[in-house]
Amino acid sequence: MATTTTGRTARQLAELRQRREALTAQSTGAASDKQHARGKLTARERIDLLLDPGTFVELDALARHRCHDFGMEKNRPYGDGVVTGSGMIDGRKVCVFAQDATVLGGSLGEVFGEKVIKVMDLAIETGCPIICINDSGGARIQEGVVALAYYAKFAKRHVDASGVIPQISLMMGSCAGGAVYASAVTDIIIMVEGTSHMFVTGPEVLQTVTGHRVDREELGGARLHNAVTGSAHHLAQEEKDALEYAREVLSYLPSNNMTEPPRYPSDAPSEPTQEDLDLDTLVPDSVNQPYDMFRVLHTVLDDGELLEIQPLYAPNIICGFGRIEGRSVGVVANQPSHLAGALDLEASEKAARFIRMCDAFHIPIVTFADVPGYLPSQDQERNGIIRRGAKLGCAYSEATTPMVTVITRKAYGGGYAVMGSKHLGVDVSLAWPTAEIAVMGGDSAVSVLYRRAIEESDDPEQARTTIREEYERTLCHPYVAAERGYVDAVIMPHETRRQVALALEMMRDKRKTRLPRKHGNLPL
Ligand code: HXC
Repeated sequence: MATTTTGRTARQLAELRQRREALTAQSTGAASDKQHARGKLTARERIDLLLDPGTFVELDALARHRCHDFGMEKNRPYGDGVVTGSGMIDGRKVCVFAQDATVLGGSLGEVFGEKVIKVMDLAIETGCPIICINDSGGARIQEGVVALAYYAKFAKRHVDASGVIPQISLMMGSCAGGAVYASAVTDIIIMVEGTSHMFVTGPEVLQTVTGHRVDREELGGARLHNAVTGSAHHLAQEEKDALEYAREVLSYLPSNNMTEPPRYPSDAPSEPTQEDLDLDTLVPDSVNQPYDMFRVLHTVLDDGELLEIQPLYAPNIICGFGRIEGRSVGVVANQPSHLAGALDLEASEKAARFIRMCDAFHIPIVTFADVPGYLPSQDQERNGIIRRGAKLGCAYSEATTPMVTVITRKAYGGGYAVMGSKHLGVDVSLAWPTAEIAVMGGDSAVSVLYRRAIEESDDPEQARTTIREEYERTLCHPYVAAERGYVDAVIMPHETRRQVALALEMMRDKRKTRLPRKHGNLPL
């Protein structure tokens, strides 16, 4: 029998229509006005901007919480405060969840938890990146321990997925409690100036417990986490930029650790360009004069493009993604124009984490070294430079991805050893003729070895200069290392782009296996 417009089938279709309308109504009108008034987008608007148009497939849109305490049974919004599903970015599949701060503060309850776990499992099982858009007050207080349990489950999922699929977190509002613990495990954390915050305990709770009043920006603002704590990797000016940055990061990464990143067409010339030739005059005659390492990176990378990770944190080391002849590389470089490129606590941890991310996804690492060593300072010693500085050497030693190092100038002491030396497992080490590979620079060496002789000389200044010049002639160049094969070749600066590309091509099919073990015990 045919269906009628008032019959059972029509009523069933109408019911779905009504439920869908109720779902849409939740994220429009007053709710979206509230978000927009705060300079924020709604969860659905964020997903629309993140994904290729028309590709979002939502899961569990009609799921609702089952809590009956504290009057919760009267407020059972569809979706339970989180929008989950899959879609495409540049034609590649991703999974996504976006917490909806307009529904119960985006707080996590049991059903919210079930939805997120489902989409995370989908990402892990199908080997695609997960994008976590956070805007949440943390564990839903009314649901008690169940909410806590789900945050612990999230963190465990993120840990299990770490190094298997890329995980990117966007912190798009004031995020507290579990919303930040779980995100801390992911590969990249992006924040938005002025509107996003991260704190373990929100300002209201903090004031109740301690009596201390502190505003959100001071407690966990985006600039603080980008420039001071190092908990975030990118500071976006607005949400749209944050979502664009996430898309860009993904363009350098494979979908999972069993595949390769996308390859892009490249028209890099094989002959030296004027930009290449300009590198021959980049290093100043005086070893103490800084220069800008970005000049080298922009010359070597395709189209001069570098996507920096943590640009505001430890600017004495540069980390970021680029491409060489169309293929993704991770770049780690000392920046002589900040702290003379010395390694400190922050620089060591920043670079170590980045190297481990590249290695997890088998992205080749290209290192540019101009490093006077670890920063000598009582503050550094007291804050654990031994333990925290060791992470950098550990990260290189553990990495099995292709690695190429270029020493442009100083490679002194511990800095030589940890900044991608061959002794840690780097495949190809190249040095410019301006490289100075030694235990320390001339002035320091002379002070240690000849202080008394200089003091006792008739002309201490002249004696110091003569001894220093002798030291520099003997040791401060790349040829002692080249004689021993510690550097594979000494190259003209203008040859760098081509030589790095050839080294990467040579190492492309590198596969290195380790002895079986449960796991190492690095100084985390
Ligand atoms: C239930 C919550 C909530 C929460 C906010 N809301 N956080 N409901 N559980 N955790 C509700 C509010 O009551 C309010 O409801 C609505 O969401 C919006 O909250 P506002 O405070 O008005 O929003 P805003 O001014 O933007 O402030 C955001 C905030 C603040 C800074 C995040 O809400 C806050 O401090 N929340 C508590 C943060 C916190 O300390 N969480 C820790 C949880 S413990 P109405 O009905 O008025 O709209 C945790 C541990 C996990 O997460 C452990 C894992 C192992």
